[in-house]
Amino acid sequence: MALLQWKDQYSAGIEAVDHEHRELIDLINKLHDEMSSQAGKPAIDAFFGDLFKAISTHFALEERFMRERKYGELAQHKHDHERLLDEIRDIMDDFAEHEEVAAAELATRLELWFGRHFETHDARLHKVLGVHPH
Ligand SMILES: [Fe+2]
Ligand SMILES: [Fe+2]
Repeated sequence: MALLQWKDQYSAGIEAVDHEHRELIDLINKLHDEMSSQAGKPAIDAFFGDLFKAISTHFALEERFMRERKYGELAQHKHDHERLLDEIRDIMDDFAEHEEVAAAELATRLELWFGRHFETHDARLHKVLGVHPH
């Protein structure tokens, strides 16, 4: 079963941005499926490593775009990105000794954050600056 499901609430109101967020969610689901089909700590470590990389790469792209365009709300936006990355680090620490991932808890935390961030920070950002180049 997929870890995360796209929700209408995630929409930032711009198709290209939503598309990119959907791709991020798809990637997280794919990583989670891969992990679920394997067992043990190496698979979990790889999952968290790749999850962290996928999310931080998306954030880095947005932050570079905001810096280049001298976006006034860069600091607040970046702060919210850091908040999620910190949460993921906490979850990684929590599960460091365990041989399984509390998938429901991870999903809940990611969904809460995506739900709030996409429709507020990202919607504002892309309304002002449009869509960033890749
Ligand atoms: Fe985003
Ligand atoms: Fe963002």
